[in-house]
Amino acid sequence: MSIKTIILAAGQGTRMRSSRPKVLHEIANKPLLQHVHETSLSLDNNTVFIIYGHGGETVKQSLSQLDATWIEQKQQLGTGHAVQQAIHHVEDGDTVLILYGDVPLLKASTLQTLLKKVSATSLALLTVTLDDPTGYGRIVRDKDHAVIKIVEQKDANEVELQISEGNTGILACKGKQLKNWLSRLSNNNAQNEYYLTDIIEMAVDDGLTIETTQADSQDEVLGVNNRSQLAHLERVYQLQQAEMLMEKGVTLRDPNRTDVRGEFAALGQDIDVDINVIFEGVNRIGSYVKIGPNCLIKNATIADGVEILANSVIEDAVVGADSRIGPFARLRPQAELADHVHIGNFVEIKKSTVASGSKINHLSYIGDSEIGSKVNVGAGTITCNYDGVNKFKTIIEDGAFIGSDTQLVAPVTVGKNATIGAGSTITKDTPAEQLTLSRVKQVSVASWQRPVKLAETVPDSSLHSLHPCKSEKE
Ligand code: UD1
Ligand code: CA
Repeated sequence: MSIKTIILAAGQGTRMRSSRPKVLHEIANKPLLQHVHETSLSLDNNTVFIIYGHGGETVKQSLSQLDATWIEQKQQLGTGHAVQQAIHHVEDGDTVLILYGDVPLLKASTLQTLLKKVSATSLALLTVTLDDPTGYGRIVRDKDHAVIKIVEQKDANEVELQISEGNTGILACKGKQLKNWLSRLSNNNAQNEYYLTDIIEMAVDDGLTIETTQADSQDEVLGVNNRSQLAHLERVYQLQQAEMLMEKGVTLRDPNRTDVRGEFAALGQDIDVDINVIFEGVNRIGSYVKIGPNCLIKNATIADGVEILANSVIEDAVVGADSRIGPFARLRPQAELADHVHIGNFVEIKKSTVASGSKINHLSYIGDSEIGSKVNVGAGTITCNYDGVNKFKTIIEDGAFIGSDTQLVAPVTVGKNATIGAGSTITKDTPAEQLTLSRVKQVSVASWQRPVKLAETVPDSSLHSLHPCKSEKE
């Protein structure tokens, strides 16, 4: 079976009150339309068409990487008109699946169930039963419970408005029939639109049965029309991600306070995640990793047994096994730490390698550096890697000890097992095994006297009397 999926994404989305087209608004950092597209790609033998319109060039440009054919609907004359724009790509024998670009959480399994119900004698329709179906097209059934038509909210009579079964808009049918039905659509209705939903009555007239199915949960078929619905679906999505993590053996201290905006290329067991941790991009996380509260972990590779303490930010970085990061540490792109490395509070590391067992525990900036193993970098150490134009490299060889408050002015190499005295500004390579320090000699001034406070001007006494506390004391 060859499937042609047509994703409708030309609507304006006025209620978002946004300069950005609706389908580009994101759930988990991914545009709504991309969620829909990804789901449709999971179907075999499927070709995807995206109908774009309002603000469409921006949509097309920002999602040009998607494997789909983009078709412009110049004027938004209704859902039926939107499908018509792609119909010349449809072969008679195809099964056509209609999706909405603003319904992001639909599952592939639901689509598969729907597609199984399509045949030459049946049209498949995804419906939803709602407490409040306001705004939805209503599914009208006869006394035998067979669907006979869909009536839009604005065209419905009193009795029809009482129907709680709504149209999700998602349906599937055979190409040949669809072509015929679309050619017969009219816009003779309350909104003067070409309603795709009118094909249901035509199908019934042609002797087809309308096979309906529903998704496991309402959230799957909810569309985004405003920011509140966007926030709701973001939460739904995040809870799904949290469930997925827990199923894989991750402890989440609070599944309501974990956010996954991306994916895991690897995920170990017995990972422990405290509250308000955000995972972005593609992360690889080993087993027995502990992540403290309020951490941002983005495109990181974190080996087994690593402990990340509260409020740390790790981005495009690699952390070796059994290392300890934070609290309040920042690993920036191309920070690569080997095993048993300790990075403490207020330490920033960028484009640097740190070999096994080294410690940088307090208040340091390490950039464009190569740090050997078992190195101890004292508090307040700064690699001065930038002269305002070019970046230079700092090399600290194995076993070196960098005293506190040292500036290493790159390019510079600190030799193996060298010690740098605290407070030094190192501008030349320092020899292995030796102590190097650069310090102004300490002096004491015996005759020095502390300054005394200069005589105060006498305050205005009239002002004084206005101040009850002052006058009382004096
Ligand atoms: C539509 C259905 C309604 C259903 C509801 C579910 C019709 C006539 N009505 O109503 O039965 O209950 O969805 O949300 O189909 N679009 C285009 N081009 C257009 C018009 C719409 O691409 O000319 C796209 C929109 O971007 C959107 C989708 O089609 O993704 C639905 O359009 P919308 O205007 O929201 O339809 P509703 O009036 O809500
Ligand atoms: Ca809608």
